[in-house]
Amino acid sequence: MAKVILEKIEKRFINNPKAAVAELSLEIKDKEFIVFVGPSGCGKSTTLRMIAGLEEITSGKIYIDDKVVNNVAPKDRDVAMVFQNYALYPHMTVYENMAFGIKIRKYPKEEIRRRVMEASEILGIQELLERRPKQLSGGQRQRVAVGRAIVRKPKVFLFDEPLSNLDAKLRGSTRTEIIKLHNRLQATMIYVTHDQVEAMTMGDRIVVMKDGFVQQIGAPVDIYEKPINKFVAGFIGTPPMNFINGKIEKKNSDLFFSDGSFTVKLHSDMYKKIAPYEGKNIILGIRPENIEEKRTSRLADPDWKVSAMVDVIEPIGALAYVYLATGHSAFVAALDSHEQLKISTKGEVVFNMERVHFFDCQTEKTVD
Ligand SMILES: Nc1ncnc2c1ncn2[C@@H]1O[C@H](COP(=O)(O)OP(=O)(O)OP(=O)(O)O)[C@@H](O)[C@H]1O
Ligand SMILES: [Mg+2]
Repeated sequence: MAKVILEKIEKRFINNPKAAVAELSLEIKDKEFIVFVGPSGCGKSTTLRMIAGLEEITSGKIYIDDKVVNNVAPKDRDVAMVFQNYALYPHMTVYENMAFGIKIRKYPKEEIRRRVMEASEILGIQELLERRPKQLSGGQRQRVAVGRAIVRKPKVFLFDEPLSNLDAKLRGSTRTEIIKLHNRLQATMIYVTHDQVEAMTMGDRIVVMKDGFVQQIGAPVDIYEKPINKFVAGFIGTPPMNFINGKIEKKNSDLFFSDGSFTVKLHSDMYKKIAPYEGKNIILGIRPENIEEKRTSRLADPDWKVSAMVDVIEPIGALAYVYLATGHSAFVAALDSHEQLKISTKGEVVFNMERVHFFDCQTEKTVD
């Protein structure tokens, strides 16, 4: 059992009037894989360091297994942290690095050996045990850092951007390994990253942060499909959601969105919630995958068609990212077919209006 509860925790550093982390409340379930994600400086590492006890909290309470740990020393919290820079001891072998944490806790030699061998087998680094960190590749060092955490058998694993020093391919495969590791160890894991792809693929739940404040907490699919505001909508998803400034207009009894250079009809399911914006400015959000080429689209509504100039076509294998511009707006479409679109000519696409989001211009909150 390892439940972690953050109760209104806040961190203010001296000489900094802005809170690094503010009003953060969250209940992390036993065995959950939770990911904190957000841009640089939003307070991810500070949150993790507060859980680890490496950073004092200014106010609030942290519980590990129903026990307040605010005043418990890091070494007594039963958590293990894996850092971005691995923080291995250069003069020690891999074996010694992995053994160190439990050696200083005076575990018997046999137990230390058993745990190091078990962890190195899980991570596939048995052959490296006698090497020193400088004789390892980045990916191997990263495994040793994870191994060092595993041998501790902590209640909670804390990861601070552990993959950011690896190249793209290794990052992908190590990501999968950490997911497997979580399934195998059945431990509570708290993982910090600024990479939204890591967050989407790894987390049972994601916590999206900005400027010290939690924006939204939820399962990856919920955050993707029901972002609470424009920031979350734009942060999760690649290429990011397109945002188009425009106005809601009423014709007969139908509602339309117009940016001044194109007009699309709203899906009737949205009329009720968008009605208060009639005649007012609003932001339409549409993900690149919800724009289709007109010729092959199965979306039949003629009022969802948009004519736009093709600026750039970026083929990326099965898909192409097509950058389009109307008189007032620019947006990108992820198209699986784009035969009829030619650069510097007008092309026709269709907005899937069942899947668009609307944001209030002032609050940037999702209109719902
Ligand atoms: N020791 C410190 N003293 C003063 N301010 C700090 C200190 N550590 C962090 N901060 C500030 O607190 C805020 C949050 O920092 P934090 O390191 O938690 O961000 P982060 O989300 O981990 O960013 P990154 O993705 O760049 O690692 C930042 O504005 C940072 O400048
Ligand atoms: Mg950080």
